Amino acid sequence: MNEPYHRMAKERGYRSRAAFKLIQLDERFGFLGGAKHVLDLGSAPGGWLQVASERVGGDGLIVGVDQRPIPPLPLENVKTIVGDVRDDEIIKLLCSIFREGIDVLLSDLSPDVSGVWEVDQSRQIELAKAALRVARSLLRADGWAVIKVFQGADFEAFIEEVKNSFNYVRVVKPQASRKRSAEVYIVARGLRSGGA
Ligand SMILES: C[S@@+](CC[C@H](N)C(=O)[O-])C[C@H]1O[C@@H](n2cnc3c(N)ncnc32)[C@H](O)[C@@H]1O
Repeated sequence: MNEPYHRMAKERGYRSRAAFKLIQLDERFGFLGGAKHVLDLGSAPGGWLQVASERVGGDGLIVGVDQRPIPPLPLENVKTIVGDVRDDEIIKLLCSIFREGIDVLLSDLSPDVSGVWEVDQSRQIELAKAALRVARSLLRADGWAVIKVFQGADFEAFIEEVKNSFNYVRVVKPQASRKRSAEVYIVARGLRSGGA
């Protein structure tokens, strides 16, 4: 709790210190300001949903998906779904909610940690790939995707895959991300072969 972002999260009522990663990414790229429809993958306990809710405003809709239940948030513009983002039924459900596509796809997906780094990293890349698939199905052509990825095996190949899908791609590590962690965030815009 002496860690500054933990303290700040508690002070400001955010459910996770991860909230500050999204704040810092949005301060740099400004993807949430004009957004109305936002999908957040891997949302529990809900810090990113709180930040997106504040920044998108009352006439927007933010949908959070997690395999774990997300404790209810008293936010009118936020809906949550319990499910696996790799499940086709969940993707169909999201397509039916966002019939006109989404402006921003957020993914902070992380696997449950096994303790074996290679296993965790490879599982995380699989989740990042699942997020990219969802982005391809739902994102508008000028929408933004923000996808967490662990550096390691297949990382460069994954970046290439994102570059093949989007016109603009940056790899960034927000200050709130612990230096020793292998996580970085891919920020991408401009789906190449037609959006939602
Ligand atoms: C780092 S946490 C997200 C923290 C969140 N951004 C916040 O600010 O509170 C990663 C989440 O990914 C979820 N997750 C992992 N694999 C998943 C999957 N296949 N489908 C849905 N959620 C998944 C985990 O349950 C976990 O809650």
